[in-house]
Amino acid sequence: MNELDGKNILIGVTGGIAAYKVVEVASRLKKLGANVRVIMTKAAAEFVAPRTFQETTGNAVSVEMFAGAVNFHVEHIALANFADVVLIAPATANFLAKAAHGIADDLLTTVVLATTAPMIVAPSMNTHMLEHPATQKNLEILASRGVQILDAATGWLACGINGKGRLPEPEDICAEIVKFFAPKILRGKKILVTAGGTMEPIDPVRFICNRSSGKMGYETARAAQISGAEVVLISANVSVAPPPNVRLVKVETALEMRDAVLAEYDSVDAVVMSAAVSDYRVKNVAAQKIKKDAESFTLELVKNPDILRELGARKTNQLLVGFAAETQNLIEYARAKLTEKNLDFIVANNVAQEGAGFAVDTNIVTLIHRDGAVENFPKMSKAALAEIIVQRVAEKLH
Ligand code: CTP
Repeated sequence: MNELDGKNILIGVTGGIAAYKVVEVASRLKKLGANVRVIMTKAAAEFVAPRTFQETTGNAVSVEMFAGAVNFHVEHIALANFADVVLIAPATANFLAKAAHGIADDLLTTVVLATTAPMIVAPSMNTHMLEHPATQKNLEILASRGVQILDAATGWLACGINGKGRLPEPEDICAEIVKFFAPKILRGKKILVTAGGTMEPIDPVRFICNRSSGKMGYETARAAQISGAEVVLISANVSVAPPPNVRLVKVETALEMRDAVLAEYDSVDAVVMSAAVSDYRVKNVAAQKIKKDAESFTLELVKNPDILRELGARKTNQLLVGFAAETQNLIEYARAKLTEKNLDFIVANNVAQEGAGFAVDTNIVTLIHRDGAVENFPKMSKAALAEIIVQRVAEKLH
């Protein structure tokens, strides 16, 4: 089951250099299961050949209003009715101006007027054109009609300046489309997710860390955001890129994570504590690099606060989800943690099994709920597990 199975997506490509990036967008959407059709303006066809989109999507590409219908009798109406959502990428200043004022002088702008489908636009242009009051006003008009505007990225532009106006990366545009179709089971909820392994310094160049990659937490943050939640992701050391549209708070040590979590705690509806928090830290962190003079030396460690236990003790209305990484007596140890930390459910995994635990893309878990219910899951991707966690959180919050 792909996220976009059975969805009809109409992409309008207008005449900007970023048109070539939209080939990748079309390709990704198709791989996600969508039926993709593309309309190009004549200017867009100067940048990318229509055939490229045709081969990528497996569908004929429409450019001209009167070129003879490719598939349909009244083509602009048929295309308008086809779409579950219309994505305009890249959206030029000229397109935005026409769409804002109802001008329909080519196939794409005519379809935009004729469709009742929701529209997502990804403006991409020179910084000054984007910042021009006319363009800003047009974006305002479109937004006031419910058009979703994807924020342009900042970076090197084809016109040779460094500024705002880049088309967002294809992956990020597709994430927005997936989000558009996802059921918003966490709408109006604020979710705090912790992820990664804390780093406990020994001296200015060394630290104690663990094998956590942060994948489980980052996937959970992504799934919660896609489900409509406002997400705060408090992240220690990770090896993965953050998902779009979450508020990322970076920390290093367990003490920093504790402070960051407590600062958010009163305002959140649920906490998913997937971080691998170091249980101990170095008592006396050396101010200077430790030299290798001694044949052996001993590091004294002191206990870190148990963040989740503290959250459990201070809990008012928050839903608390913990993880239990064990190598033996999985259910027994996980149940004890559930009770001791006052959790609503715990995700228990035996990290000694192949395909579970740290630094792999899959997990094999058992969910243990406060009321005693136990759910066993087969090996699955961390992304799929994240969706299950988000579903359970949503069920319990409603
Ligand atoms: N946790 C925490 N603060 C700590 C240690 C753990 O908040 N100092 C959280 C983890 O994020 C996880 C849960 O508590 O959600 C259980 O973590 P785990 O390492 O499995 O267990 P511990 O409580 O540390 O117990 P032990 O190491 O003895 O198994």
